[in-house]
Amino acid sequence: MTRIRKAVIPAAGLGTRFLPATKAIPKEMLPIVNRPAIQLIVEEAAACGIEQVIIITGRGKTELVDHFDAHPQLEDTLRRQGKDALLNEVLRTTDLARIVTVRQQRPLGLGHAILCARDLIDGEPFVVFLPDDLIDADPPAARQLIDVYERTGKSVLALMEVAPEAVSSYGIAAGQTRPEDDRLIDIDTLVEKPPAGEAPSNLAVVGRYVLSPRIFDYLSQTRPGRGDEIQLTDALARLALNEGLIGDRFTGSRYDAGDMAGYLLANLNWARKEPRLWRKVKRWLAENE
Ligand code: G1P
Repeated sequence: MTRIRKAVIPAAGLGTRFLPATKAIPKEMLPIVNRPAIQLIVEEAAACGIEQVIIITGRGKTELVDHFDAHPQLEDTLRRQGKDALLNEVLRTTDLARIVTVRQQRPLGLGHAILCARDLIDGEPFVVFLPDDLIDADPPAARQLIDVYERTGKSVLALMEVAPEAVSSYGIAAGQTRPEDDRLIDIDTLVEKPPAGEAPSNLAVVGRYVLSPRIFDYLSQTRPGRGDEIQLTDALARLALNEGLIGDRFTGSRYDAGDMAGYLLANLNWARKEPRLWRKVKRWLAENE
């Protein structure tokens, strides 16, 4: 079985939900404590053994690439000042993975964004990370999916139960639970953002996918769907029917960094890992409740 070495991060969106903060900086650069959200995603990829990360970008996204590039002037200054801890943090950003970018020329949808990586993926299985979905999990969520892929040889996506009124914000999957492992579902139905009441289940697709390169054939045949965009979910529905697709109810906490409350909660979650910072946050919360 081909080892998974490549990942795709679609990051071409305009981030309109965070305007005006995202007028001049990409939404993926908004910080979660002291790291931009995209760094958390690339760190998850690196922790899963990913060596090459293909970021799908658009106009106004150059900071994403700068962030993972070396910055000799800053490094020299930190070195001279003896700020070793900060220097290591800065150096680490350049060592996580090889970053390459492709520009999505037109905003034709998530499916189209993934299709832009076809040549660079070059026939290998790969992981897709949606950068709005920040997942705190051990092992990392994508690692959990790769394990399922390695056991089954099939494409895998992450699933999470959501409230019935939330189904219209997600791709929704349904299928048969595997008797030997009730975390896994053989998916036979996938619908992008169904209206509440018409969803086949309340199992939502979360932004981690391990995909066979054959997804590109399906994507190239997929016509615009929900929102008049080429949807990854529609191509996955065809992949599920023809080759099989597994849903993994992964373990971990997922934060929707594309939503204001989710973004703030993600900050609190990662702040909790810094004892000195967390003590101050807790004190503030206690005083202001
Ligand atoms: C995308 C996918 C959707 C998935 C969601 C997870 O939607 O199209 O199927 O459930 O990510 O976050 P978006 O939130 O980008 O509109």
